[in-house]
Amino acid sequence: MARYDLLGTLNWGDHLPFLKDFDLQKIRFTCSKLVPKVNRFVGSIIADHQADITQTNRDFVHVLLSLQGPDKLSHSDMIAVLWEMIFRGTDTVAVLIEWILARMVLHPEVQKRVQEELDAVVGGGSRALTEEDVAMTVYLPAVVKEVLRLHPPGPLLSWARLAITDTTIDGHHVPAGTTAMVNMWAIARDPEVWVDPLEFKPERFVGLENEFSVFGSDLRLAPFGSGRRTCPGKTLGLSTVTFWVASLLHEFQWVPSDEGNGVDLTEVLRLSCEMANPLTVKVRPRRGLSP
Ligand code: HEM
Repeated sequence: MARYDLLGTLNWGDHLPFLKDFDLQKIRFTCSKLVPKVNRFVGSIIADHQADITQTNRDFVHVLLSLQGPDKLSHSDMIAVLWEMIFRGTDTVAVLIEWILARMVLHPEVQKRVQEELDAVVGGGSRALTEEDVAMTVYLPAVVKEVLRLHPPGPLLSWARLAITDTTIDGHHVPAGTTAMVNMWAIARDPEVWVDPLEFKPERFVGLENEFSVFGSDLRLAPFGSGRRTCPGKTLGLSTVTFWVASLLHEFQWVPSDEGNGVDLTEVLRLSCEMANPLTVKVRPRRGLSP
């Protein structure tokens, strides 16, 4: 069973240093039991790649293997890099796709506009969408940005920020050694930063394609973090999500399911900020239907 929940659990020992050694919630103990399993799992991926002498489909693991050697990557470095990629790169992408689809069900007029844009770039006929088609869209990236603003999968950019000297921020003393959290969720909903912050309005990004980057240069919206420890998978993550959403919206119409109480936007912060009640929907095939 995946134990993503462990990564999102509030560990009192992190906040009250005198509790740290007691591991009262058994978090460190449980993690130590998982480490050998992770090592075996990721180790088998590396072993499979080492055995693949043809290397016809060279991928990321092959590149890591080519960097192995004295003063270069060790086996345990490779395990750490691969494991980090797997656990940081899978649920963020899945969670963001789910939030986007939830918003599409809640805002059928936005869904229709995305579908019209996709139909226009694909042209007539019934072929499947390609990555080149997606690159020609304008409204779809605005929709993705608006969902990243309201539902960032990583709302607290926290893990890598440590005050290395005593400092003062807004009159508050911050001692050296303090772990700092950047609350991107709050910034993205701040009325002093955004007009109508709680409203879902993808139009706010239309026309700003080349001016508004979500990759960390504009701190009004930095859902992948910023600075040296920014997300290394941001380009891959954003293009994967955009392509999947484009394909799912091009192929299907997404409507509320007959059961349940519609789309519930309640959030729960686990490793990522997820939908507390997973999305349930009905889908209708679109291709082959007259517009
Ligand atoms: C839509 C998808 C994604 C979102 C929203 C996202 C978001 C984030 C955020 C907010 C951080 C913390 C940055 C900071 O504190 O400044 C982060 C770090 C990280 N992400 Fe992503 N990420 C996504 C996809 C991916 C993918 C696809 C990969 C790998 C294939 C990945 C790998 C990582 C890694 C390794 C880190 C840690 C970097 C470090 O600590 O130096 N992420 N991500």
